[in-house]
Parts: sequence; structure tokens; C-alpha cells
Amino acid sequence: MKTAGEKAAASEKKTVAAGRSQTGPVDAAIAVLPGDGIGPEVMQEGLKILEAVGERYGHRFKFNRVMVGGASIDAHGAPLTDEALAACRKSDAVYLAAVGGPKWDNLGPERRPEKALLGLRKALGLYANLRPAKVEPALIEASTLKPEALKGVDILVIRELTGGLYFGRPRGREPLGEGQFRAVDTLIYTTEEIQRVVKTAFEAARKRRKKVTSIDKANVLESSRLWREIATEVGKSYPDVALEHMLVDNAAMQLIRNPRQFDVIVTENMFGDILSDEAAMLTGSLGMQPSASLGGKVAMYEPSHGSAPDIAGQGKANPLATILSGAMMLRYSFGLESEAQAVEAAVERVLARGYRTADIAQPGTIQVSTREMGDQVRQEILEA
Ligand code: IPM
Ligand code: MG
Repeated sequence: MKTAGEKAAASEKKTVAAGRSQTGPVDAAIAVLPGDGIGPEVMQEGLKILEAVGERYGHRFKFNRVMVGGASIDAHGAPLTDEALAACRKSDAVYLAAVGGPKWDNLGPERRPEKALLGLRKALGLYANLRPAKVEPALIEASTLKPEALKGVDILVIRELTGGLYFGRPRGREPLGEGQFRAVDTLIYTTEEIQRVVKTAFEAARKRRKKVTSIDKANVLESSRLWREIATEVGKSYPDVALEHMLVDNAAMQLIRNPRQFDVIVTENMFGDILSDEAAMLTGSLGMQPSASLGGKVAMYEPSHGSAPDIAGQGKANPLATILSGAMMLRYSFGLESEAQAVEAAVERVLARGYRTADIAQPGTIQVSTREMGDQVRQEILEA
């Protein structure tokens, strides 16, 4: 089998505009998890685009809607039911929009909507979370940073997703009397957990600019010292890729000082959560950042942003992160590299023509709703 990189190189030469798939028709069952807040609105546009890709290139995508998060708490009393998890397990890919909202903020830790996300990541074994942050030339003015710092920025953040503080035991709270408590979270990493995600980073870097920055806090944390040792060890098998170690506080600073220095970043769960939001803002808006969570038999694709309850139902949400997550699904789950590129190119053209949702609007651009943005991208795919 060809690697995704080889397929990409091959398909660039052929003409995508022929409107036929390069890899033969795909017939896939996708678990669709719209979730809460703006989730259903942006998901509708994501599905619209997959349908357009199916129509244009001759693939069949079957959508199986699964309830998770707050919606599932309301209907079934739990954020992720066994049935929902089973439906995801037997699908070819999971497509999730966003979960959570103020309505469910005061439930116990096991019943919060976010538990659906964490439960899916863990149960599906999705240890590698890929969050690209690529600055679109058309959006360079939408960022709060200076354009000259952003030109050419193209970073892939790979966040470890099933370990660290998010899942370590013991965790919990112990009363100390007189209204005082002791709260504990535990940061654990094993050799194997570090090896596999660092490998993912080196493999990804090989298809890019061949540089991995491994981010840790090895001057303080033992888990980080192990992380650094293992990263160095794994790096020996990739002599063609440059490995650099960086402390997380410095990395947070370097990301805004000179983001062009980064190619692939790999880091533990919590650091990755924080740094991927920071990296996303280089692109102008969190509403632009897609993600792919890989490592298990079934992968999951979701925008990096949350459910934004404050703008839910108003047609203001940016559907591009969801649409671009769909492109990542085409690439990583179905091997449809040229279709993935066609979606990404369609998004680029729509932006270049000046269409913007509110989060990325600038003077002189054409402000459109969630649905209109999806329609524009769809049209580009069908007519390109
Ligand atoms: C993310 C989110 C989640 C996380 C929350 C909603 C649990 O911030 O996907 O980055 O912390 O992983
Ligand atoms: Mg986050």
C-alpha cells in the first residue's frame, strides 16, 4: 500500500478536475455526532460537503446520527451511552462537532458533556490528535498578530490524547474538615504511550519539512524527563528528521514570537490542549482549526473549537473547521488524498473570494452565515 504522502504526490500530477476518484469508489458508514450548541449547525455544513464529494467523485457516505454530550444527558441521563459507543465502534469513522453548554455545567464530573469526548477518545484508543495550524494568505489580516510574523506559518500540533493528567489515577477530592479540601490529579506516562505518539510525529514530519519539536517540562517534571528520553531514543530511527526539545513555557512564547520555526510539534495531553489553542489563533480563529484523532481502528474527526452556546442557533458559527475535519477524514480514514485536497482548495478559494463568517470578518469582506459558507464551499467542489 502507498503511504498517504506518496498518494498525495501522485495525485497532484493527475487532474482532480476529472471528477473521478483516483482510488476507486469508497462506501463508508460514518457515525455523525452533532452534539450541542453550534454543533448541529456546523455539522450540517460538514455533511453537505461530504455529500458533494460523494456526488462529484462517486463515493457513498452513509450517515448514522448518534446522540452524545448534553443532548444525550437530556435524553438518556448520560453523556455517552453504551449504545452510542457501540455505534461509533462499528462505523468506518466518527465525525463529531462539539459538546457542552451552561445547562450541564453543574453536573458531577462523570455526567458532564465533555465526558463523552474523553470517553470516546479513550475507548477508541485515539492517542494521537493532529491539529494543523496553517495560515491562509487570505486570512492573514484576521489574526491579532502582525502579518509578517504569520506569512508561511504551517504547523502540525500532535497532542497525546489518552494519557497524562486527563486520565491519571488517583484523582479526586478529600475533605480536610472545616470546609477545606485536598484535590488530586495525576500525571502519568509510560514508555509505550510516549513512543507511539512520538513515532506518529516523526512519520508526519517525514512527509513535511522534516522537523519535530518535542515539548515538555523536563526541568521540573519526571514524566517530562521520561518523555524527553524516549523522544530522543525514537528520533534515532529517523536520522532524516531533525529533533529539537523545547520547554513548554518557552514554546508558548516562541509560538507567538516566531511561529515559522515550527513544523511538527509533539507534546503531552495537557500541554497540547493549551498550545493547540494558541497555534489555532495564529490562523485567525479557532473556528478554522480541524482535527483528527488517530491510533485506534476507528478514527475521530472534529473541529478544535467548542460548542459556543452564546452564538448557537444564530447562523453565526464558522463551519470551516468542521468542513476541514471532514477533509482530514477523507485523507486519513479513506485514503482519498485528492478529494481531501479538493475540499481544502475549495475552502481556500471561497476565502480568497472574500467570503467570511463573523469570527473572521474584516472590512471589505463579504459576511455570510454558517449555511451560506457551506453552500459556497459545496459549489466550489461541484464546479471546480
Ligand atoms: C479540546 C477541548 C477538550 C479537551 C475539552 C472540551 C474536554 O478543550 O478538545 O481541546 O480539553 O481536550
Ligand atoms: Mg482544548
